[in-house]
Amino acid sequence: MEIVILPSAADVDAAAADIVASLVLKRPDAVLGVATGSSPQGIYRQLAGRVADGAVSFAGASAFALDEYVGLDVGHPESYHSVIAREVCGPLGFDQARVRVPDGSAADTRKAAAAYETAIADAGGIDLQILGIGTNGHIGFNEPTSSLASRTRVKTLAPQTRADNARFFADPADVPTHCITQGLGTIFEARHLLLVAQGASKSDAIAHAVEGPVSSRWPGSILQLHPHATVILDEAAASRLELADYYRYAVANKPA
Ligand code: GLP
Repeated sequence: MEIVILPSAADVDAAAADIVASLVLKRPDAVLGVATGSSPQGIYRQLAGRVADGAVSFAGASAFALDEYVGLDVGHPESYHSVIAREVCGPLGFDQARVRVPDGSAADTRKAAAAYETAIADAGGIDLQILGIGTNGHIGFNEPTSSLASRTRVKTLAPQTRADNARFFADPADVPTHCITQGLGTIFEARHLLLVAQGASKSDAIAHAVEGPVSSRWPGSILQLHPHATVILDEAAASRLELADYYRYAVANKPA
């Protein structure tokens, strides 16, 4: 796992955007895993600027969202279908037909989850998965004690996650109680995991994910088992890392 600690959240956005852009420049038909939430918004803004400048194009790329609420109309502005369309698809110029979000409105959510797994496999798997992390350590919506081998499925959102996401809704009671999320086992199969975190509210989850034991108690800790995981943090998110100086040293002395 490579841990990169940068002075500000804007630096995190730019460094993560560099990684995404360089992949897509090399492989215009790359398959990206895209996260919602606040953490990756700056990456998408950065990339949208580069698309507008003609520096990179996502027209040939595909994307799979990590998760979707269950029981929220697809047209609701906070459904992840809407968020991905508004923040990712449109600004980055993806071909809508190549962007998938789990179907949280399906009558049979189990079937929808299985279909999502099949769609990822049919696309050849995910090349680069962008991840944020919840304050309770979740990735995607894999809440604490999610099986490290889990696949795409329905999960019950933790009260902490519902409280954290209440800022997107008019009334906290409007935050759905369930979701469909890629499983930890699904996420783990992406060829490169890129997790970003900004702010002190993430410092505990980051410390557990990066330096704690690998445990379903802190789902982000599964990154420790991955052969290619990059974690990009601002100073505040990195503030509880015991070995922060070593990570800085390793980045400064990275072989060419
Ligand atoms: C969300 C999403 C995750 C996200 C996490 C952190 O609700 N399902 O994909 O990474 O929780 O959210 P934020 O980036 O808004 O702090």
